Amino acid sequence: MMSRPERIRLGVNIDHCATLRMARYRGYPRLRGEMVEPDPVALALEAERAGADGITVHPREDGRHIQQEDVRELRGTLQIPLNMEMAVTPAMVAFAREIQPHTVCMVPEKRAEVTTEGGLDVAGQYDAVAGAVKALAADGIHSSLFIDPEKNQVEAAARADAAFVELHTGAYANSYYTEEGEEEKERLVRALLHARELGLKVNMGHGINYVNVRPLSFLGGIYEMNIGHSILSRALFCGIREAVREMALRMNGEPA
Ligand code: PXP
Repeated sequence: MMSRPERIRLGVNIDHCATLRMARYRGYPRLRGEMVEPDPVALALEAERAGADGITVHPREDGRHIQQEDVRELRGTLQIPLNMEMAVTPAMVAFAREIQPHTVCMVPEKRAEVTTEGGLDVAGQYDAVAGAVKALAADGIHSSLFIDPEKNQVEAAARADAAFVELHTGAYANSYYTEEGEEEKERLVRALLHARELGLKVNMGHGINYVNVRPLSFLGGIYEMNIGHSILSRALFCGIREAVREMALRMNGEPA
């Protein structure tokens, strides 16, 4: 009999809550407080109460959604792990060392850092990435690298001594209802197995929703999925607690 795959953890990406806030309050002197809705920190706490295993945020250089002050507040408030996505820059490495998130996930922010599908080009900018991983490891911060499901990127991530890779599921999600869907899933499976063989823990993220999560839920060997847009979209109708509860069940192949 096949053993049951280990439960996949759910990281809730709350960036789009801040996107909504900035749609009204960009340029305001204060972005927190009773006047300013919606509050991403309050949303994160609701997600935590609903059973999220972690919260993910991406303070971007252009400040388009999550702000550094949100990250500071989250770090002091959350009980569950905080995963901070970041560009590979000295300024962001310094900010991560100040915040001490549980993990960082290094992502591309500029065109030159992006691979064909949109993951971080670890192989192409190996020294910068490996240097950032090393600097953060010295502070006990685990690094995850957001990469396309490609052999050379997986191998570069392992060489750079990252603890995790986060496999970019965008191409899988975009091709879900097309002929390429199955091949994109197979690419993820090959990268997942290869990464595990090399001792990496494997997360997945980008474009995962309540429908396309199902085939992934049966793969086994996935540590965590980071999901934002779909959960926040559903929360508009049923509230964040129900949206989180339902995804946590579905991503583990259970009826919601
Ligand atoms: N993982 C990473 C590395 C991301 O940058 C994002 C946001 O684009 C996500 C996961 C979540 O993607 P989505 O909002 O499509 O669920």
